[in-house]
Formats: sequence, structure tokens, C-alpha cells
Amino acid sequence: MMVKDELRKAKTQRSPRPPARILGVETSCDETAASIVENGRVILSSIVASQVDLHAQFGGIFPEVASRQHILSIYSVVEKALQQAHLTIKDVDAIAVTRGPGLPGSLVVGMNFAKGLALGSSLPIIGINHLEGHLYSPWLYRADEEPKPEPEFPLLALVVSGGHSELILIQDHITYQRLGGTLDDAAGEAFDKIARLLGLSYPGGPSIQKAAENGNPHRFEFPRAWLEGSWNFSFSGLKTAVLRVVRKLEEQDQPLPVADLAASFQAAVVEVLAGKTMLAANEFNPRELLIAGGVSANRALRQAVQEQDEFPVHIPPIWLCTDNAAMIAGAGYYRFTDNQRDALDMDVLPNWPVSEL
Ligand code: KG4
Ligand code: ZN
Repeated sequence: MMVKDELRKAKTQRSPRPPARILGVETSCDETAASIVENGRVILSSIVASQVDLHAQFGGIFPEVASRQHILSIYSVVEKALQQAHLTIKDVDAIAVTRGPGLPGSLVVGMNFAKGLALGSSLPIIGINHLEGHLYSPWLYRADEEPKPEPEFPLLALVVSGGHSELILIQDHITYQRLGGTLDDAAGEAFDKIARLLGLSYPGGPSIQKAAENGNPHRFEFPRAWLEGSWNFSFSGLKTAVLRVVRKLEEQDQPLPVADLAASFQAAVVEVLAGKTMLAANEFNPRELLIAGGVSANRALRQAVQEQDEFPVHIPPIWLCTDNAAMIAGAGYYRFTDNQRDALDMDVLPNWPVSEL
């Protein structure tokens, strides 16, 4: 009987993927992004036009403002991605565009632009799930960097972003088994909401991380929702617990110990995210771990998963944790070389779950 490793090797040897350059387009939230990636791994260019400053005044993303800003930025962002790679659209083999999940009005801008470009240049178009994009971010490296070791299957992945917190087993390229996800707020959403409560700036993740640097993570023992017997997460109880402490201190006219609150909150989120990932790793025994999504930029979370030495861990560099189009082009390569092509009448899927991939 062939052991697993031999089977995997045989499979790779049977089907080497052909070379291809993919143009990725991403507009699911508040970043307008385009990128060219070669062979699913090498970033030839990556342009991200962030709308953070625009939304900071609202303390969160204002959907209509986001979609209109995408319209203003998309043409020049794609043009710059081609220029930075010293390529023209004729040098590209396919266009991969984020189809969902995300804000409908924002997704539509990238989708329509990508369709127009595909039609005008006779290129195939492939709709990509944004979370699948995040999953492919650890494969990427810049053309001027040393190639990174390729993640090895089966992988256990934790994807933590502003909209999602998911535990996923990746058996092989584009082969997923969703184990669980958040029942209420996503991890990033919890960071953003607590930051607002503490008077910290948007986006909340980096602000909480910074405030927490000078804080005592043990000052407040906030609840950890382990949800034993499932691979789900819940952060609403934690959010309510922080809110209760803040209200009590306000009623007593006491100044908010922002650093201690931020550190204690961050410790509770990180302990559950890292803890449940390790529990799942021990249960499913993957070869390696993969952490991705905006919250994977968090230093405490990175440290917590890198501290263990049972499983090698792949985490993208900080600039590839948050939204970008290189990850969409990366995922697009594996779908393109698996012969996926989408029709020009495909619609966006604002609530597209990983379980349907
Ligand atoms: O993946 P992403 O850029 O967009 C979505 O797909 O949602 O994730 C954005 C989320 C935001 O909620 C942001 O607060 C969070 O990632 N984030 C962080 C950090 N950097 C970004 N959360 C914790 N610590 C960070 N350093
Ligand atoms: Zn994202």
C-alpha cells in the first residue's frame, strides 16, 4: 500500500501545472487592488489603494462611499499593476476577480471592470472566493525575494478577517473541508468594535495591538468562549463583558484604563484563536498549519501560534495579511490550471460561504 506521502508525490508528478500569469482584481471591501502573479507564487506587481482615511471619519466602512471610491480608483490601480510588472494585458493569461463574500456594491465594481477587460482582451475570467484568496496568501513571495517553502498538504487553516473567522482543513489545492466558524462577530469585527468603544481609531486591530503594548493582559479576566465539542467561535460574550466594564467605569466617573482593557481583550481573543487551532490540529493531525486574513497581522496571535513546535506554521508577511489582489491572482492560478472558467454573466456572491467551494 502506498503511504500518503508517496500518493501525494505521485499526484504532483502526474499533473505538473503549466506556467501562467494571472491578473488579480480585488474590491470586496475598502481596498481597491490589482496584482500580477506568476505560477501562483511569484508577485510581479501588487497595487493596493486603501480607503482607510476616507472611512476613518465614520469609524467604520460606509458601503456607498466604498463602492464609489472603487469606481474612481479601479482603472488606475489595474493600469499601475501592469506598469509595475513591465507587462501589457497581452502578457496575461487570465483574469481572476473576487466574486464574494463582501459588500455587494464594492464587489460589483471589480467584477464589472474585470468582465470588460476580459471581453476587450479575449481573456478567460475566473471568479474567486475572497477567503480562498486569503488561504493562498502564504504561497506568495515577491519576484526579488528568495522563494519561500511551499505549504504542504494536508493543512489546517485559520482564516481570521474583518468578516470571517474560519477553521478549514485543506486536503489539496482547492479541496476544502470547513470545520467551523464564528457564530456571531468575526475576530476582526470584534477588534474594530472594541476599538471604537475604547475611543481608538479605525481600523481597530492595529489600534488595539498598539494600545495593548503598554497594557496588562491580566488586569481584566474576560471570558473565553471555548464552545467545546464544536470548531466554532463566538466573540459576542467577550464584547459584552468589555462593554460592561467600560460602562461601570464611566458611571463611576473613572478614566478608562485603555491599555489594560485593550491588552486583556486581545489576550482573550488570541488565546481562543490559537488554542482552538491547536486543539483542531491535534484532532485532525495536518502536516502543517496556515494562518491568514487581516487579524493574522496581529503580533500576539503570530507569537502564540509560532511558539508551539509540533507543526510548521505558514503565516503571510504583514503586508499580505490584509486585503490585496496578489492572493486573488494566486488562488486564480490554481483554479485556472484546473480548467475553471467563468461566464461573462456571472454575478457577485456577497454571502458566498467556504462550505460551497
Ligand atoms: O482581511 P482583511 O484585510 O479584510 C477582510 O477581509 O475583512 O481584515 C481586516 C480586519 C479588520 O477587522 C482589522 O481590524 C483586522 O483585520 N486587523 C487586525 C490587525 N490588522 C488588521 N486585527 C488585529 N491585529 C492587527 N494587527
Ligand atoms: Zn480579507
